Amino acid sequence: MKKYLSFIFFIALTQNAFAQNPAIPHLIKTEATTQLIVKGKPFIILGGELHNSSTSGADYMRPLWKKIAAKNVNTVIAAAYWELVEPAEGKFDFTLIDSMVIGARKEKLHLVILWFGSWKNGYSMYAPSWVKNNPKKYPRAKDAKGKTLQHLSALSEVTAEADAGAFKAMMQHIRSIDEKEQTVIMMQVQNEVGLFNTPRDYNDAANKAYRASLPKDLADYISSHKGKLQPELDSVLKLRGYKLNGTWEDVFGKSFFDDRHWKALSYLTEELFTVYNYAKYIGKIAAAGKEAYPIPMYVNAWIKQPGAGGAWPGKYPSGGPIPHTLDIWRAAAPAIDLIVPDIYVPDARYTIAQYHRPGNAFFIPEIRPGVRSANEAFWAFGEHDIFGYAPFGIDDVDAGEDPITQTYRTLDQVKELIVQHQGKGTMAGILVDTVQRTQQLTLGGYVIKAELGRQENFSNILGRPAPKPPVIAGGILINTAPNEFYVIGKDYLLTFIPEKITDKSLLLDIEYIEEGKFVNGKWQVIRRLNGDEGTGGGDYGFGYAPQQPAATLRFQRQPDGAYSILKYKLYSYK
Ligand code: DGJ
Repeated sequence: MKKYLSFIFFIALTQNAFAQNPAIPHLIKTEATTQLIVKGKPFIILGGELHNSSTSGADYMRPLWKKIAAKNVNTVIAAAYWELVEPAEGKFDFTLIDSMVIGARKEKLHLVILWFGSWKNGYSMYAPSWVKNNPKKYPRAKDAKGKTLQHLSALSEVTAEADAGAFKAMMQHIRSIDEKEQTVIMMQVQNEVGLFNTPRDYNDAANKAYRASLPKDLADYISSHKGKLQPELDSVLKLRGYKLNGTWEDVFGKSFFDDRHWKALSYLTEELFTVYNYAKYIGKIAAAGKEAYPIPMYVNAWIKQPGAGGAWPGKYPSGGPIPHTLDIWRAAAPAIDLIVPDIYVPDARYTIAQYHRPGNAFFIPEIRPGVRSANEAFWAFGEHDIFGYAPFGIDDVDAGEDPITQTYRTLDQVKELIVQHQGKGTMAGILVDTVQRTQQLTLGGYVIKAELGRQENFSNILGRPAPKPPVIAGGILINTAPNEFYVIGKDYLLTFIPEKITDKSLLLDIEYIEEGKFVNGKWQVIRRLNGDEGTGGGDYGFGYAPQQPAATLRFQRQPDGAYSILKYKLYSYK
């Protein structure tokens, strides 16, 4: 099941020009994983993103830091706004940045800062007034009919420089107040960039660039990465004989439009052109910021998705970091370390798998809050080696009402274990729901079937009423030694069957089940589960599994709907 059995270090993260300073937050990248290192140790972001306007008022934010920390969050993802950082050209105001850093520190929280600069959700709503009101100097994009759009054009060097100047000044300021403490651990450069209702910019500069030869830096990148490009790009280039001289359309072909299949790559050539221009612009800003303070920087995407959310470029913002455009980001914006998705689709699995590409193991900066994402978090950490997670609107409800509180309480305990097993093929994620009630995986020499629990699986032998039937269950399985697993979650059932049955007379049994917790990374047993709570409770103890030799496992109900951490050891006999 695990794709990354070979643990090959193949990328020394931020290559050459952007080599990172090990004393400040940085990334260590391998083919399979990315680890964020803070103060010398891998750091797992148990995050939450604030509403867009929350950090525009220090007083408004003051009571919220505590409320958020109560959710077991360790990192707040919070916006900094170009219009407030540079209200007049060249005049900077970092009061809000300072208050954010102070507020976070008081609750021992870290910060990932979002730079709402030239674009947010595609539009240029956070540009300062002196930019908004000077379209001659800071030109807008145009559609195919020549209509001026609200979006600042990504083809303007002048606008890029203005934005980069502000971002660099802010990074200098952050370094001056925070290099020692390292409250700020990462930066998002812009937010969900791209154009709506047109696959590309049609202003004069854009038309000229579209008709010109493919930029040399992109052509060079493609030729030096032949065979290692993203499959979508590779297949288009292959079809056209990898010809790299000529215009965008000579190289990538004339685009098609297919509105029936949401995965089809409609308007691909225009999209790649648009991505290139955004990536160049954002790469410049990130590079300027890194000159001042080279902490990790990423871009986030409004993702391609079925339905009204957007199946083709222009429906979703065209020019954003969609996974099939990863190579363009790498070629044109080497200062950007990762491309990451914002997830508001009903099931996160497809999107997460799409972004988990060699060298782009990532974190999820935004996901719709609620019970579903509180379970998907386990799956994403276990299955895709993400290094962080953040439901949106973390400042909304109180800790007791937010399902992420329990998820983070559990993940906080197992984070060291997760870090140790990232990229090694010894960890798996579980996610079962009412649509996909079962999941099968192989781990540690076993074929393991996970199944969403039914109400009867949780009724108590002494008649304690069963809770409502679960609708979703997320979890993590970690294989720590031969026949030994840590099993994290609730509301699902497991059946273990040996992957290879060499001796048919061999039977499988449970050696022990411990229910426990990690305190400062050390395992502490709370109860040894046996009898009614372990093997004697009927169907889901052991020995009654549908197929022999097989062993099964269920969770005990915890107060407050908490998740369990179990240490599960199997043995065989005959
Ligand atoms: C995605 C954006 O990136 C966020 O800033 C926020 O607007 C959310 N959508 C929710 O509306």
